[in-house]
Amino acid sequence: MSIQESLTLAYFERLVSSPEGRAHVLATCADAEASDEGALFDRLLTWVDDPELAKLVKVHQQDELRHAEMFLACLARTGVPAPTVPEHLKLLKRIDDLLGGMMEKPMTSREDVMRAYLLLQVIEERASTQFGLHVRAYRKVDPKTAEVVERIAKDEARHLKYCRAISRRYAPDEDTLRRELGRLREVEGRAFAANSRANMDYVRERGFVKFGPLEGLFWRGVREITGRVQSSVPTPYWNEPAAA
Ligand SMILES: [Fe+2]
Ligand SMILES: [Fe+2]
Repeated sequence: MSIQESLTLAYFERLVSSPEGRAHVLATCADAEASDEGALFDRLLTWVDDPELAKLVKVHQQDELRHAEMFLACLARTGVPAPTVPEHLKLLKRIDDLLGGMMEKPMTSREDVMRAYLLLQVIEERASTQFGLHVRAYRKVDPKTAEVVERIAKDEARHLKYCRAISRRYAPDEDTLRRELGRLREVEGRAFAANSRANMDYVRERGFVKFGPLEGLFWRGVREITGRVQSSVPTPYWNEPAAA
């Protein structure tokens, strides 16, 4: 585990130890599953003329909606009323903004399908990375939620396979595929870094996570330092060979 992942896990364990913190994280996950990728799937369905691909798009979309329901059921168990996720904490919105509204643009070519699936791939890579850490943190305070997130993470691993296969099938050539994947990973990593900092501020201001004076100082330091040295936070998938 990288230092960044160890820090994320330590922070996350503290955050989900309070019902309010848990409710906030689960609401954020449910929101991301239900709304953001949806626009992309709808756009893919209007373009694709390959029935096999259309079927995969539908299965993928239905999986994400099911995940949202699963997160909401976990949220209900916290006993905290479902919080509204503020716009500035929506990771996919940040990614889309950095990409100039790519998710809303019409798809007109095979290359657009490749790009859409590469975008889904980097989103799935982040989800798989984060959910792995979430499962470990939930085990201590809410084993039932840990089990649910573990099941969701298995679906995300399957989605990653779709994304790799379909983006490859629609890519004009290997170079374009690699270049676009690298670019989208970097953009997603930047959006994730900014979103994580905004999230740390939000949960501290709301009192969802409580630290003693020294601990608080430590985490503020982490927030400042990572903000300065890490403008784009990688996932372990960045180290995979390009053909993986
Ligand atoms: Fe999902
Ligand atoms: Fe997924």
